[in-house]
Amino acid sequence: MRSISEILFPRPVVLITTCDASGKPDVATFSFVMPVSFSPMYVAFAVSPKRHSFKNLQEVSEFVLHVVPEELLDASWVCGTRSGRDVDKFSLAGLRTQPSSKVRPPRIVDCPVQLECVVEAMPEYGDHYLVIGRVVEVHVEKPEYRPILHHTGTTFYKVGEKASPSS
Ligand SMILES: Cc1cc2nc3c(=O)[nH]c(=O)nc-3n(C[C@H](O)[C@H](O)[C@H](O)COP(=O)(O)O)c2cc1C
Repeated sequence: MRSISEILFPRPVVLITTCDASGKPDVATFSFVMPVSFSPMYVAFAVSPKRHSFKNLQEVSEFVLHVVPEELLDASWVCGTRSGRDVDKFSLAGLRTQPSSKVRPPRIVDCPVQLECVVEAMPEYGDHYLVIGRVVEVHVEKPEYRPILHHTGTTFYKVGEKASPSS
């Protein structure tokens, strides 16, 4: 049987920064992600409890969600295959950060859009936890960008042609 990631695709790739209680940051790649509410703005993503990011979210209920442009495909692969438990992925992937305005995890300046979020709920569903975040600050560094999309494993897509309904 096909997995849920092979059935529901493509999904936007995002980088999410978190930090532990001492402020040590981590960054990881996620594609189980969705908008939840326009106003106030909410987003959600699913995190496995195996991730170092999950441990960080239990310590500090804040994160920054970053849209990933095509140029950062390789960086997002590094951040999605190595753990912050073992390595500093910011330097490994060549990602530059600066302090966020309202939350403790840093924001990645190389990403065109950065959403600072506060976790409002983190219920467990199956083998993941659904992290629901209220967006408390939006940074749009670059309004035009081409996001990358994920299928499963090493299969990604670039955004293709625009399409509209006929009526
Ligand atoms: C494209 C891509 C998408 C991913 N999406 C998710 C996801 O939605 N949820 C999740 O828990 N892990 C996801 N992962 C796996 C984590 O990014 C990976 O396990 C990472 O090493 C976790 O880092 P950490 O231990 O520093 O948190 C994804 C990996 C890739 C490459």
